[in-house]
Amino acid sequence: MAETVISIQNLDKTYDNGFTALDKVNLEINKGEIFALLGPNGAGKTTLIGSICGIVSPTGGHISVFGHDTIKEYKQTRARIGLVPQELTVDSFETVWNTVTFSRGLFGKKDNPAHIEDVLKRLSLFDKKDTQVRKLSGGMKRRVLIAKALAHEPDILFLDEPTAGVDVELRKSMWAQVRKLQETGVTIILTTHYLEEAEEMADRIGFISKGNLFMTEEKTSLMKKLGKKELVLELYNPLDCTPSSLDGFNLKLANDGYQIIYTYDPAMQDNGVVSLLDQLRGLGIKCKDFNTRQSSLEEIFIELVGQE
Ligand SMILES: Nc1ncnc2c1ncn2[C@@H]1O[C@H](COP(=O)(O)OP(=O)(O)OP(=O)(O)O)[C@@H](O)[C@H]1O
Ligand SMILES: [Mg+2]
Repeated sequence: MAETVISIQNLDKTYDNGFTALDKVNLEINKGEIFALLGPNGAGKTTLIGSICGIVSPTGGHISVFGHDTIKEYKQTRARIGLVPQELTVDSFETVWNTVTFSRGLFGKKDNPAHIEDVLKRLSLFDKKDTQVRKLSGGMKRRVLIAKALAHEPDILFLDEPTAGVDVELRKSMWAQVRKLQETGVTIILTTHYLEEAEEMADRIGFISKGNLFMTEEKTSLMKKLGKKELVLELYNPLDCTPSSLDGFNLKLANDGYQIIYTYDPAMQDNGVVSLLDQLRGLGIKCKDFNTRQSSLEEIFIELVGQE
């Protein structure tokens, strides 16, 4: 059995203005996993993370981290957590090195320059160690936030929208770094709007909407269930209906019969695309263009919320 590092029971958060941001959330996180929290703006992701980290005070329920209550034993739990906040909160005149070293000191940990050096190197920031933080680019500042969160050698790392506003190349390199961290035994919880990010990174995905964590699922089974792809074929001549010989395919007509949309499962070895194209040619149905698209997080959401 995997060791549970975070256990959340019936967590509620109603803000002072009466708004309920979390509604009876239950969740267990296992040691060493990468858990992605997916949800639209305002779903409650940051509130949930803040509650675990002790920044937001819950109005109901219970959270424990490594068996310690996050309210009564705040010091013990907080020391084992690193948090990379959603907002870029670094704009200091201090150097990168001092900023990261200071973060470690906040947790009362003894100086460990070798660890700081290692963290900065892993995040490709070592050559910037003497640069003032305010002079870094946005993507570098985000990496400084990660370095700060790792300075005190936490066992759990929270990344709240780690790659928002980060270019594709850097995003990929950050994903690789996060995976390396996982290899060292760190448990990682990240929030994201991007299905692609969750797909790339996560072992398990939790879906949250309107404060309701309504589904958590292993990534592989989720993608199997919901990760559909569509092939859209643009026809020269419109069809009234799909030919009956193609009934074995999951086809839809759109755009007044000028489009055939084939929905298929990309995980299948034989996804049927080639055979569909062959058969269309055999029937004399000519295509002038085609494209494929992956179902988006939004569509998966709508499907899930519909099932709820
Ligand atoms: N301090 C606060 N007082 C009142 N309402 C708040 C407060 N902080 C957050 N909320 C509300 O709680 C809800 C959840 O906010 P939260 O920041 O947790 O969402 P999120 O899922 O992180 O969204 P995003 O994807 O935009 O970051 C939102 O409707 C937000 O307006
Ligand atoms: Mg947020």
